[in-house]
Amino acid sequence: MSKISRRELLSNGGALLAASSLPISLVEVAFGQDSDSNFTFAYISDSHITQIKGNEFVRNWDRGLIRAVAETNLLDPSPDFVFYGGDIAQLGKPEEIDHGLEILSGLHGDVHYVMGEHDYYVDLGEYWRKQLGPDHYSFDHKGVHFVVLNSILTHEAWMHQKWDTGMDRMKQMARLDNPNGQPFMVGDSQREWLRKDLDKISKDTPIVVLSHSPLQKIFKSWNFWTDDAEQVQALLHPFDKVTVLYGHVHQIQTNQIGNISFHAAMATAWPWPYPSTYRQKSSYMPKLTVEMNRADPFFERDATGWQFIDMHSGRTDVSYLLPDNQNRVVAYDESAGHPVDRTNKAGAGSKPPLRHY
Ligand SMILES: [Fe+2]
Ligand SMILES: [Fe+2]
Repeated sequence: MSKISRRELLSNGGALLAASSLPISLVEVAFGQDSDSNFTFAYISDSHITQIKGNEFVRNWDRGLIRAVAETNLLDPSPDFVFYGGDIAQLGKPEEIDHGLEILSGLHGDVHYVMGEHDYYVDLGEYWRKQLGPDHYSFDHKGVHFVVLNSILTHEAWMHQKWDTGMDRMKQMARLDNPNGQPFMVGDSQREWLRKDLDKISKDTPIVVLSHSPLQKIFKSWNFWTDDAEQVQALLHPFDKVTVLYGHVHQIQTNQIGNISFHAAMATAWPWPYPSTYRQKSSYMPKLTVEMNRADPFFERDATGWQFIDMHSGRTDVSYLLPDNQNRVVAYDESAGHPVDRTNKAGAGSKPPLRHY
């Protein structure tokens, strides 16, 4: 396989797709102002590694992660680091987390992680933290301040009630449309930590927040939702340039709320349909979202993928690498003041192309 260049990714979303969709002039603009603060990283999410028994795991989910790792290693130039967006495991078993980390250990360079609910609710994150360290932290890279939040916490009383087993708690939280489910939240103590962390940062420093659930309210019964999203957003409000990148929803979502740009990541395991396709449910999608097309469900990698992130001038452009599907680029548009899907334009009457159905 050949290397995947950054230019190819921004121009057409990757070496694995067919045609270029971005005029060359825009590519030149993107790379005409290279400076030390411009860099790239990769984003892989939601592998849901699932143990069948012993050393036997669901093959398709393994293959999605293995493919993302292999393709990330082909990026040229190499990304500065890789971010993993949560839900390594399906039921948070140590065997699943270990197997996922073993596959991820094939990545070249540093990997940063955020906790997903499928990593957490069996033992309240104990094994994940033992392997990977704190579940919320910040770091600086080439002038950008990165903040990682554990956004999948919920009410203490629910988490610590007398469950027969941790797996009972996990199975409650792992279900969609569960009337006994609980909303995700960042919580008081982590928000206080965030307030203090951001106090040290000048307001013109670009901020990238990495969470598992969306730090916005989209669809509560699937937990496409964070209950204290507005309070987190308020802490981010004073900064000039803020991006939130999240996993969990297994689909492309794009939004802008005030100064904050939002991008969701694809899963390497499976896609969720858009809630709007569930007619019996009231639904709401972020208004800038151009809904992804489904690939052919008979393809193993149906509507799964991973992301390549281009940071330039403190803004975030996301290339979605979608095996067996048309890759997509969602990039910040300075004149519009929000991210725009360069591949499939939002707006009346526009629909993403359906290559398989
Ligand atoms: Fe997930
Ligand atoms: Fe999740």
